[in-house]
Amino acid sequence: MYNASQLLDKFNAHLSELQFTRTPEGLYDPVKYVLSMGGKRIRPVLMLMAYNLYRDDIARIFNPATGIEVYHNYTLLHDDLMDRADMRRGKRTVHKVWNDNTAILSGDAMLVLAYQFMAACPPECLKEVMDIFNLTALEICEGQQMDMEFEQRDNVREEEYIEMIRLKTAVLLAASLKIGAILGGASREDAERLYDFGMQIGIAFQLQDDLLDVYGDSAVFGKNIGGDILCNKKTYMLIKCIERAGEQQLSELNRWIVAESYRPEEKIAAVTALYNQIGIKSICENKMREHYMLAMESLESVSVAEGKKKELKNLMKHLMYREM
Ligand code: IPE
Ligand code: IPE
Ligand code: MG
Ligand code: MG
Ligand code: MG
Repeated sequence: MYNASQLLDKFNAHLSELQFTRTPEGLYDPVKYVLSMGGKRIRPVLMLMAYNLYRDDIARIFNPATGIEVYHNYTLLHDDLMDRADMRRGKRTVHKVWNDNTAILSGDAMLVLAYQFMAACPPECLKEVMDIFNLTALEICEGQQMDMEFEQRDNVREEEYIEMIRLKTAVLLAASLKIGAILGGASREDAERLYDFGMQIGIAFQLQDDLLDVYGDSAVFGKNIGGDILCNKKTYMLIKCIERAGEQQLSELNRWIVAESYRPEEKIAAVTALYNQIGIKSICENKMREHYMLAMESLESVSVAEGKKKELKNLMKHLMYREM
């Protein structure tokens, strides 16, 4: 059995050997650019870890593992355009280095490539794997649409936010684990429990991403701080802030939300100051921990030897304290 960092190294070695030889370069250069700028590779590692609970021949699923990472990177190209984000993984985003159309079309090409890699999974599981992948890909679009619609709304409820992040983020981590488990020959029950584990991890993961978007260090996080505040993203933090703010605080917050011309740094500083007054960081951290606990419960019920779960638990702890 491999640990997470061994799986990461093996997967990265595999990825770095991939050749994109088709043309025009204008289409494929952004694909190479985004795939070469790193990232945590958490989804393929989760897929390999789930598989490795049941089988050791991990190279057998490098294709679907590549598919899930290429798919994730495709969502980032489009997401950065939708979120007007200028920086990712410490580098300028594709639509900034090239342009909007390039981010759309190279993203589309990556989606097709992702499907090619996914469909090159061990053939006896093809139908089941593609069914999961298709449903997941649709759910992510649904979550992204909700995320965008919420920018314009001022009455987003906590449950709606959780459902939105479940769709846009958590299902992909969940599907990575489930696909890995199925390819490894896990029972249906185990595959479902690992899916639930990934779902809870994924919810915590997005809560933390939102937290780091305010409180992270841009040099480590790799993205500009305050982007969510500028877009009026209805994060758990903003929802809780609206819920707990006093009258004056609420009117100040609302002024910033509706403001049309302002200095970005000023809005970020003002909203962050309100978060600080209300103690939003620890409220958000508590929510994250809640979901990490739920994840742990799902993992407990997976019927493999305790020793084999250690790596997934370690990874979970590692993610909980991540700063990127
Ligand atoms: C970023 O995902 C998008 C979210 C779902 C928060 P990651 O944080 O996994 O990004 P990389 O791949 O490590 O850069
Ligand atoms: C990302 O949510 C979800 C998807 C990419 C599908 P965010 O918009 O918070 O992700 P980052 O912060 O840009 O990575
Ligand atoms: Mg974004
Ligand atoms: Mg987004
Ligand atoms: Mg984010």
